[in-house]
Amino acid sequence: MQYSNRANAIAPFFAMAFGEKATALESQGRSVIRLNIGEPDFGAPPAVQQAMQQAVANNNLPYTGALGDRRLREAIAEFYYTQHQIRLNPNRVVVTAGASAALLLTCAALINPGDEVLMGDPSYPCNRQFVKTFGGDVNLVPTGASSQFQLNSKLVSDNWNANTKALMIATPSNPTGTAVTLDELDKMCAFAKARNAWRIIDEIYLDLSDHAPGPAKSVLAVDDGAIVINSFSKFFGMTGWRLGWMVVPEDMVEVIERLAQNLYICPSTPAQLAALACFTPDTLALCEARRQSLLTRRNIVLAGLEKAGLCVPVAPSGAFYVYIDVSSTGLTAMTFCEQLLSETGVALTPGNDFGNSDADRYVRLSYATSEQILHEGLKRIQAFTAAR
Ligand SMILES: Cc1ncc(COP(=O)(O)O)c(C=O)c1O
Repeated sequence: MQYSNRANAIAPFFAMAFGEKATALESQGRSVIRLNIGEPDFGAPPAVQQAMQQAVANNNLPYTGALGDRRLREAIAEFYYTQHQIRLNPNRVVVTAGASAALLLTCAALINPGDEVLMGDPSYPCNRQFVKTFGGDVNLVPTGASSQFQLNSKLVSDNWNANTKALMIATPSNPTGTAVTLDELDKMCAFAKARNAWRIIDEIYLDLSDHAPGPAKSVLAVDDGAIVINSFSKFFGMTGWRLGWMVVPEDMVEVIERLAQNLYICPSTPAQLAALACFTPDTLALCEARRQSLLTRRNIVLAGLEKAGLCVPVAPSGAFYVYIDVSSTGLTAMTFCEQLLSETGVALTPGNDFGNSDADRYVRLSYATSEQILHEGLKRIQAFTAAR
């Protein structure tokens, strides 16, 4: 019996592998600090949890339409107005089973074998797999500290090929937490649009970005034809609920509907009904307070890493990740993560998960955990680097 070449070619996540090693250490009675997983510790807002209980108690929970519950699509469209000052027709909002399903549907809708998708290195690893699953080629463009570990208009134009069909950008990014300015995003999208190429912009961390005093700006402010990916996982703390959304151009809705109907019928009905409670003023205020607390955590981490003698070439401006240069320790990223975990019980993720460019040099730390745990983790990292 044989598995497909596609399945055989998919690389496992090192983040998960380190998570498993951490669990094994815990089962031996060791104290473990998990800074490897991109999951906020807050959980779903209480109003959403209550709404879930009601949804389950009151309803026989049938399928919804493939594009999602109409009221939820309207609430998301309204959120774009209150949160980002963008007027959006709810017809263009598609509720999905997490941003993951939105990315999957997008790639299914747009990519033919041999089409190339341009993305930055480092970037969210699953994007490469989504593209390859549909026969596309990934043009992974090395970035670096000088471009905030993000693509910019020069990198896009220098690396554009005749078969480039789409540009894929997450801003702020996983694994670096760094963002593209709206001006630069505008230039890159305009470049791609002029070549009839799709712009796939992942804004899953947009509402967890620095945006005082004004609102965070969605790419839709500069490119109404971009395909926007978003999720309830991060800002609303609902990772396990498997709920996200996308905003697509009007004429793409029907294509996405057919694909979603066939690929998974609809997103989870109870999760959709409960998610309506995300958009009340109280819940939004709570999520904003959580964003503020992530800023405090970020400052704790940046100060602690400096004390450990570790360099963060570009401080994050959103999400909850720090991309750390560990080359001063003389260890590769993988060895650093392995030794740190086995000697101190702190789990991080090696840069090798996110691309090839200088990946041996960087590790990702996720600060989506309590201040107390962060302080303890940083103390252990400082002891580890001091001993080298
Ligand atoms: C940049 C990015 N996009 C998409 C996803 C997938 O998120 P979801 O839980 O909504 O499927 C993640 C998850 O970490 C991510 O970091």
